[in-house]
Amino acid sequence: MNAVVVRRHGDESVLRLEERPEPSAGPGEVVVRIRAAGVNFADILARLGLYKAAPPPPFIPGIEVSGVVEACGPGATSLKPGDRVMSFSPFGGYAEKTVVQESYAFPIPEDMGFPEAAALPVQYLTAYHGLFHLAHVRPGETVLVHAAAGGVGLAILQLCEEAGAKVVATVGSAKKVEAVKAECPSARVVVMGEEDFVRAAREATGGRGPDVIMDSLGGATFSRGWKSLAPGGRHILFGAASAVKPGAISKMAAGWRLLPMLWIATLPMIDGNKTLSAFNLYHLASDAERLHGASKHLLELRAKGSVKPRITLSLPLEKAAEAHRRVQNRETTGKVILTVG
Ligand SMILES: NC(=O)c1ccc[n+]([C@@H]2O[C@H](COP(=O)([O-])OP(=O)(O)OC[C@H]3O[C@@H](n4cnc5c(N)ncnc54)[C@H](OP(=O)(O)O)[C@@H]3O)[C@@H](O)[C@H]2O)c1
Repeated sequence: MNAVVVRRHGDESVLRLEERPEPSAGPGEVVVRIRAAGVNFADILARLGLYKAAPPPPFIPGIEVSGVVEACGPGATSLKPGDRVMSFSPFGGYAEKTVVQESYAFPIPEDMGFPEAAALPVQYLTAYHGLFHLAHVRPGETVLVHAAAGGVGLAILQLCEEAGAKVVATVGSAKKVEAVKAECPSARVVVMGEEDFVRAAREATGGRGPDVIMDSLGGATFSRGWKSLAPGGRHILFGAASAVKPGAISKMAAGWRLLPMLWIATLPMIDGNKTLSAFNLYHLASDAERLHGASKHLLELRAKGSVKPRITLSLPLEKAAEAHRRVQNRETTGKVILTVG
């Protein structure tokens, strides 16, 4: 089968299409013939050598797929060959086939296309877990959403609308404002570098600060946001994109950009009733019950029209390098996918 392989860490040119052996299903596993693979920021970090959970090279990137079950291993009984599924795939997604734990795969409705299905397992579950399982966002609260025009960002905006929360959104450039406004017309949008997001969030909340911060940037943005959180606020940290720059980057340079987040004063958390939560969905994948519950709810929200994956860039598998370059250079909004077959 064809697969995109990373043989050494580096810029997007290290992504090469190769012939690889076909996977086979072991106990409790299923083989999925992939029709679409989601491109996630974690794939960029893995290719750069900055993602701890990634295997060492050579490896096949890609942590979410949609497709058709082709074979079931011993004991894998809840799915059968021919089932249309979306699935978390802990590496191996940029390929024609992959093998996943049966519990990672989730059947998709008939009216759902494979590209759309490849947008849900990582970005929507991340938005859902942060907003609902950790922040317990309530109607009328204000959520500060960083990188709001991105894949996870637009998912958070849609779930905030569903929850009746107000939004202050940050984006890296003025050309992304429209994507946020299209999703959440009432959002107060801040273009980073043009306006101070802390001041904007304070103004939008009558001086209190945001109740929830959905933070995928880390670094200095984390520290400034954390200090601005309202009493009783919840800061959900789930990424550190501010460590990244275009091209290849060293671990040391990335670490340097994150230094400001190492110092936070914990004692004021007590009187401020502040919560700091962090998570990596990758390490929650074995919590099948929780993630299946969230996936089921996301599909219900999709059926009623509140969850609408925005696929803005769809490229064939062999163009994975172009997809990576555009995401890393901050040129994309919404979901980027690779189509297979
Ligand atoms: N913890 C988890 O389980 C989990 C799961 C999924 C995703 N994540 C994190 O959530 C974030 C969003 O993921 P995604 O896949 O949806 O990607 P994405 O948001 O579509 O793309 C990343 C966005 O980050 C922003 N960004 C800010 N500083 C950046 C920099 N120095 N270099 C590159 N981008 C920068 C850019 O938006 P602007 O140009 O608007 O700033 C860019 O569009 C990522 O940080 C990712 O690691 C975490």
